[in-house]
Amino acid sequence: MRLTYIIRLSILLMAATPLTSRAQDDSPPGQILFNTKSCNACHGKDGKKAILAFPNLAGNDKTYLLTQVHEIRDGQRVGSNDDTGNPRTAGMKAVVHLLSEEELGQVTDWLSSSPAAKPIALDPPPSVEMLAKGKELFASKGCIACHGEAGKKPLMPGYPFLASQKKEYLMNQVNDIKSGARSNGLTMVMKPITEALTAEEIDQITTYLSQEPR
Ligand code: HEC
Ligand code: HEC
Repeated sequence: MRLTYIIRLSILLMAATPLTSRAQDDSPPGQILFNTKSCNACHGKDGKKAILAFPNLAGNDKTYLLTQVHEIRDGQRVGSNDDTGNPRTAGMKAVVHLLSEEELGQVTDWLSSSPAAKPIALDPPPSVEMLAKGKELFASKGCIACHGEAGKKPLMPGYPFLASQKKEYLMNQVNDIKSGARSNGLTMVMKPITEALTAEEIDQITTYLSQEPR
């Protein structure tokens, strides 16, 4: 009786194994790389559940993502220091070399073709007035010209999507571009506009953007 059970179980397992590996092989190469080369440890499963103040990546513009990976790897993009006293990009800089150029292309292809993460509810929830003020500033301060309605229609490849990105991450980036701590790539086009923003306005705009679904 027991022996029959064990034999049956082995047959079931043998039958199940090829199915499991076949399912893994069917995943796009970029997804497999993302989830095996440690990107997922910080940016979360499938680039949608990032930890701490780290960015979600899924659904962003392909050119933007690839440029940022290069510039973080090569040290052109840094940022202000995090709680550990190191630039925010330091942890990531240490791992990008694990991927070849071809693999970075595959990862960013896959990320850009994945649906974006849903907005993360804020605690306490922002008031209706706060969201309306953020929306109004996003238009009146000119952000809308480059990032599009609610940060959902970037003007051209290489410009990032902003809607439904994590609030703390967005705030850090606007502050870092404003202070010059982040000065890579195309950030110069944005710097003069951020210099005219108060801390309260940055808070209002980034709260609004973080709550806009994509
Ligand atoms: C140790 C944590 C960590 C790991 C591992 C990591 N990243 Fe990052 N990554 C970050 C942080 C933190 C930032 C944002 C830095 C900042 O706030 O200035 C970032 C930024 C990015 C950005 C720019 C996002 C944007 O909106 O500008 C991309 C793209 C990215 N990472 C891709 C990857 C890929 C691909 C991998 C795997 C090869 C990876 N990261 C591994 C922590 C990490
Ligand atoms: C003239 C065009 C332009 C305007 C106006 C502009 N931006 Fe940007 N913004 C960019 C570009 C281009 C980048 C990407 C910079 C790079 O190459 O790293 C960017 C990056 C960002 C980022 C970082 C995104 C990420 O994933 O790291 C945030 C946040 C942002 N912009 C918010 C704003 C806000 C808020 C305003 C209005 C106050 C604004 N931008 C106005 C062009 C613009």
